[in-house]
Amino acid sequence: MTAAVTERPGRAPAFCYRALGKRALGESDAVLHCDQVPLSRLAERFGTPLYVYSASTIRERLRAFDQAFDPAPHTVCYSVKANSNLSILRLLTREGCGFDVVSGGELERVLRVDRRAAGKVVFSGVGKTSVEIGMALQAGILLFNVESQSELQVLGECAARLKKTARMALRVNPDVPADTHPYISTGLHQHKFGIPIEQARALYRQAAKHKSLKVSGVSVHIGSQIADVTPFSATMERVADLVRALRIDGHTVDYVDAGGGLGIPYEGDGQSDFAACARKYARALLGPLRGLRVHLLLEPGRSIVGPAGTLLTRVLYRKTNGHKRFLVVDAAMNDLIRPSLYKAHHEIVPVRAHAASAKETVDVVGPICETGDFFARDRELPLAEEGDLLAILDAGAYGMVLASNYNTRPRPAEILVDGDSTKLIRRRETLTDLMGPEAPRSRRA
Ligand code: LLP
Repeated sequence: MTAAVTERPGRAPAFCYRALGKRALGESDAVLHCDQVPLSRLAERFGTPLYVYSASTIRERLRAFDQAFDPAPHTVCYSVKANSNLSILRLLTREGCGFDVVSGGELERVLRVDRRAAGKVVFSGVGKTSVEIGMALQAGILLFNVESQSELQVLGECAARLKKTARMALRVNPDVPADTHPYISTGLHQHKFGIPIEQARALYRQAAKHKSLKVSGVSVHIGSQIADVTPFSATMERVADLVRALRIDGHTVDYVDAGGGLGIPYEGDGQSDFAACARKYARALLGPLRGLRVHLLLEPGRSIVGPAGTLLTRVLYRKTNGHKRFLVVDAAMNDLIRPSLYKAHHEIVPVRAHAASAKETVDVVGPICETGDFFARDRELPLAEEGDLLAILDAGAYGMVLASNYNTRPRPAEILVDGDSTKLIRRRETLTDLMGPEAPRSRRA
């Protein structure tokens, strides 16, 4: 490794600087690769902005996560909302993964990839419609995570109508604070999620009376991007108490669904040892459940795919307003909204590393007509010229899934790299794609 590499880290193992061709790695020819493929080549071939994911990294992270829970019976139900591309879901089904879905659309994605995966699907969310519930009952999913008394009623009615039995858990709200952005914290009483844990026993009693419902477990999810494992174990303590109480009440509790939420380090050099981090998380969850003999369900999203993806963008213009320097890039908040929405930090690195290049403090901004359209503010970055490529790191989770067509911008293409092979897993949208539903002939209801 040369200075060029260490000074500007990518995100190993997915994104590393390597020499192009057979030349030795020098100061000016270190190019950021995804696995064996230079990102510069992908940008030339598919254009920018461009999402690029590493299949091997997704597989490795899933395996490390799964193995961390080996001491207990468990199923990993990847949270589809983090990245729902069909090719990524296919890759995960091949690994034997289950899925956490929150809409009929997400369920349909899973079914299209592998209908047999339905038996490992959990359905979460505060606003399931009866149509979505019907779809999930027909598909034969593993578990409904019910979030209100009214939803329990609707689930019971739908199941009775379809002559099915719905396996259900109540998603309880444990009132445990977690240190994360307020928009993605979900485990406090003031949040819309779940049923206050102290009301759960009464509602389970009600559920047990319904012929078409089968009480099967307890579910919880306290938020996302949580780095400290303490709130997870505090939550599991409360859930374990509830499981014991429910069994005393005569219910069968086979499953505990622990939700997702394990955070990833967005700043600096990233994660050196994900397997160790997953083991720490597993210990925090499994400790309080010891002796309960439940099957644990886990719903990780970000921790599996976040570091496996990058958003490639090209510098369109350099400009200076007073004392401020801006890099105007061709990606924008419509492509990756996390910095604008949550003030989230994403490392930005040049695709071509020049160890000797000077640094400057810049705002990296997109072309959208909002001041909130930025990827970084007052960030010290290596000097970038117009036409240079930049990689916005850790964009594999909640990147493309949150992309929009604001400013009538077609959404980026997505590429899945596996070793030295490259696959276009979503083509770039065209303006015709965007305007199609507004054409007179497709406007009929
Ligand atoms: N299970 C449930 C019920 C959830 O609501 C979520 C995320 C997950 C699992 C997966 O959590 P993860 O392991 O990915 O943290 N857009 C935000 C994140 C929203 C998370 C919503 N729920 C962001 O970009 O940070």
